[in-house]
Amino acid sequence: MSIIQTMMDRRSIRAFTDKPVEKEKIEQIMKAAVHAPNAMGAQNWYFAVVTDPGLLEELRADLRNAIINGPAPPHVKEIAINNPQFNPTHGGKALVICAGVAASPFSAFDVSMAAQNICLAAKELGLGACPIGSVKDMGAEMKSKYVPEQYTAFFGISIGYPAPVDGSNYKERDMTKVVYFE
Ligand SMILES: Cc1cc2nc3c(=O)[nH]c(=O)nc-3n(C[C@H](O)[C@H](O)[C@H](O)COP(=O)(O)O)c2cc1C
Repeated sequence: MSIIQTMMDRRSIRAFTDKPVEKEKIEQIMKAAVHAPNAMGAQNWYFAVVTDPGLLEELRADLRNAIINGPAPPHVKEIAINNPQFNPTHGGKALVICAGVAASPFSAFDVSMAAQNICLAAKELGLGACPIGSVKDMGAEMKSKYVPEQYTAFFGISIGYPAPVDGSNYKERDMTKVVYFE
């Protein structure tokens, strides 16, 4: 598949099978991540890649709390409150916690560039990925466990094999937001 076709076909996947993601695929994805553009070549990013099922469960519970107590919209909070098993990562078999140097004005851009590489590499390898915003609100204990002090967690990316009904939802893109000056 051409890279442009991969970009057009990629969607955020929100339901995964139970199949674990092979270590080689995770490593390929993360190698693609760190080949992203980054301001001044400083590589001001940090990625914690979690695949251990016990740790993923601990993060699920923490992120559910983050949604209930954080800035999520009321309808999302309600879903989380009503379901103790609510999983903000949609049950992906790997969660990449994407962090950047807190003091750098560019690290959010660097990490975002790398994040798109992660999503596209996952697609290319037959996997699905979904950015997970609640990771930025994870509890202090999780932050100190996964992210060194000088870094800020911006979001996560959940990865796994897409379920037959994968929870993706294509929204038509608004091309009027692209303006040409010729
Ligand atoms: C910073 C960021 C945070 C996101 N957080 C979530 C999330 O917590 N849960 C989720 O299901 N999707 C999340 N998404 C995915 C968006 O909903 C999705 O990209 C958007 O609806 C467009 O759909 P597409 O990615 O399938 O093209 C997030 C996307 C971004 C860029």
